[in-house]
Amino acid sequence: MPRESWKDKILFTPGPLTTSPAVKTAMLRDLGARDADFLKIVLDVKKRLLDLAEVDGDKYTVVLMQGCGSMGVEAAVGCAVPKKGGKLLVAINGAYGKRISDMARVMNMPVETLDYPENAPVKPEDVGERLKNDDGITHVAMVHCETASGIFNPVKEVGKIVSKRKRVFIVDAMSSFGAAEIKIDKWDIRWLVSSANKCVEGVPGFSFVIVENKALAASAGNARSLCLDLHAQNEDMRRNGQFRYTPPVHAVLAFHRALLELEAEGGVEARMKRYRRNCRTLREGMAELGFEEYLAPDDHGWIITSFRYPRNTAFSFDNFYNLLRDDGFVIYPGKVDNADLFRVGNVGRIAPSDVSCLIDAMRRSLAKMGVAMAPGKIPE
Ligand SMILES: Cc1ncc(COP(=O)(O)O)c(C=O)c1O
Repeated sequence: MPRESWKDKILFTPGPLTTSPAVKTAMLRDLGARDADFLKIVLDVKKRLLDLAEVDGDKYTVVLMQGCGSMGVEAAVGCAVPKKGGKLLVAINGAYGKRISDMARVMNMPVETLDYPENAPVKPEDVGERLKNDDGITHVAMVHCETASGIFNPVKEVGKIVSKRKRVFIVDAMSSFGAAEIKIDKWDIRWLVSSANKCVEGVPGFSFVIVENKALAASAGNARSLCLDLHAQNEDMRRNGQFRYTPPVHAVLAFHRALLELEAEGGVEARMKRYRRNCRTLREGMAELGFEEYLAPDDHGWIITSFRYPRNTAFSFDNFYNLLRDDGFVIYPGKVDNADLFRVGNVGRIAPSDVSCLIDAMRRSLAKMGVAMAPGKIPE
């Protein structure tokens, strides 16, 4: 990936992220929503997603839904939890977990929360305890990689507990699916949501929900929204292969290309390795510059990394951001309430060499701002 071939700034963000030239050029077509060529591609996208998720097509279905990732989560929650007798428990340690409970409230759905500090992972035993003490809870939702900080939550362990207590498990794997091990069936995940512009490295335009067939069939009539009805969307797609309403044609074309590239790279394992190398390069470089990480090393994922603002009055995040931007690099602001942070994404069509270029640009920007820090080491 030679730096010279990039026309745009490199996005060190959690998505939309930097995509490959082939993914971008896949969109340079005009295809009708009912065109046989397009419908063939939609079918192939669905098949490849099930393969990527390593689930059996007889047991799970994938439903594509127009819109951003939040719409996919809202669709899944709104369809999964019955209108009569349904109650959701959301385990929250960041903004995206909180968003799920906000969605439930807007839908007038009974909802309970288990709340954690933003730098602490969800504890499976707490979920078990809550389920033991509240028979009314029918569904449990949580985020896998809480992108607000970068923390990974123990989905496998929570899944086992939810299943043992005979409840239904919904996982927001928006920023981890495609670059992390997720055993959907084995971990008893009934509904899993991700979107096109995350680790598969497509562009924004739709989300996808991998759902157990039984759970999807049981969701008929549950939807709180006409448009975000996954059951109805799937029924139409089964009947005629089409989205119910205008499909995000170009985003699907880009995503199809992105899936082929993910397979060519070596699948989830290889992509995870590249992102982990990006993350390691970033953490080493940032420690050397003197930045401090927000999360404890054991809680750290490899999707996005949060760093504390330097304790130096010459530092201003806005100046830092703009200087980096002028140099061709886009980073991300923080998204937690309990600390001043900024975030750097490790995902997208970027390599460790790009991360090293970012670190060099940061060194230049800090010098321009007159921010001096003592070099450190990655906490192990
Ligand atoms: C874990 C998680 N959930 C939900 C979302 C919301 O997705 P969107 O911004 O596409 O609505 C994001 C976005 O980054 C996310 O990381």
